[in-house]
Amino acid sequence: MLANKRILLIIGGGIAAYKSLSLIRLLKGAGAKVTPVLTRACAEFVTPLSVSALAGEKVYTELFDLTDEAEMGHIQLSRVADLIVVAPGTADLMAKMAGGRADDLASTLLLATDTRVLLAPAMNVRMWQHAATQRNLAQLRGDGVLFVGPNDGEMACGEFGPGRMAEPEEIFAAIAVALGGGVLAGKHVLVTSGPTHEPIDPVRYIANRSSGAQGTAIAAALRDLGARVTFVTGPATVPAPDGVAVVRVETAAEMLAAVEAALPADAAVMAAAVADWRVANAGVQKMKKDGSGRAPALEFDENPDILARVSRGQNRPGLVVGFAAETETVVEHASAKRLRKGCDWIVANDVSPATGIMGGRENAVTLISDAGAEVWPRMAKDAVARRLAERIAAALQAR
Ligand code: CTP
Repeated sequence: MLANKRILLIIGGGIAAYKSLSLIRLLKGAGAKVTPVLTRACAEFVTPLSVSALAGEKVYTELFDLTDEAEMGHIQLSRVADLIVVAPGTADLMAKMAGGRADDLASTLLLATDTRVLLAPAMNVRMWQHAATQRNLAQLRGDGVLFVGPNDGEMACGEFGPGRMAEPEEIFAAIAVALGGGVLAGKHVLVTSGPTHEPIDPVRYIANRSSGAQGTAIAAALRDLGARVTFVTGPATVPAPDGVAVVRVETAAEMLAAVEAALPADAAVMAAAVADWRVANAGVQKMKKDGSGRAPALEFDENPDILARVSRGQNRPGLVVGFAAETETVVEHASAKRLRKGCDWIVANDVSPATGIMGGRENAVTLISDAGAEVWPRMAKDAVARRLAERIAAALQAR
């Protein structure tokens, strides 16, 4: 699907520039034609010669490369491409793009183009989190620039957090999606995420500690592989991802209704931490103290089990993935849960406070299926999400 597509690859000056060499190899392997443009700073990290040798093309570095009448002008160079990819997209390149500057070849091409641009940010975590970069990000998103990453993880500078450039395989997948052919193109995947809030009265509710981080990362990873994602979310603390259909709910009953309305789907991933019970005698008005010194007695009804209903319903997706939040004998409990709820896979995790998983950035999961229990190493939640999305894609393709 990438055969004969023309990619203009702008390689910015960052330590991640070396990963762009693998990206070129992947693109060439898929039959794409890659025209590399190196910023001046990039040449400090990779040599034009190695880039040119891999791409099998002339490498452009300076504006005056293009002044020869026989050469392609920069306007033309920027427009013959099917997609412009900026990787690594440094803070400086993002700032230039957001400000509309054109003071070197890369920024001039980016300003002159009418082709879509996909940017893979790569920078130190503080630079990424800086208000200026976040402003530029919002501006560029508004301008229609596509993004892949950055990922969470250990950085070359020794700090940990968002800022690592997406891996070449992920950028490759994002390029395929941008050109209309991700591995999950044409597939509809339903994802539930976040906690539910069960009202006690109009001002109070029962909730749990789920932040929605894992479900959000899964929805984003599925989107990045080209899936159409319906994201049904309770009141999570992390923002919903871009580029997915977001349905916001509060209670388990509302989540069930939203899930049923979203079907049919090719796959469903139920990552929400649904409250097991709702208050049967919830107050219509705010409950008042009655002077007795005793709290009003709450009565509970069990909530519908959304995962079990989807797994056994008429509209059952081809692949149903549940989660199991456990605090002890994780694999045994989760394996039993898989059978009880009728789903295909269960992603089990230990949410005891000591693990720091609930509300944290990392997760350590075991994937339980017919084939048994597969222990995954502890990794960032977005890495768990990408791995799961790839497994889902492989399973749907095998069907
Ligand atoms: N789930 C659901 N509806 C519910 C409760 C849970 O769809 N009412 C789903 C969750 O989204 C998750 C899976 O079921 O995918 C397991 O959730 P978990 O809270 O671990 O299980 P419980 O059903 O609460 O089971 P237990 O009480 O045995 O822990």
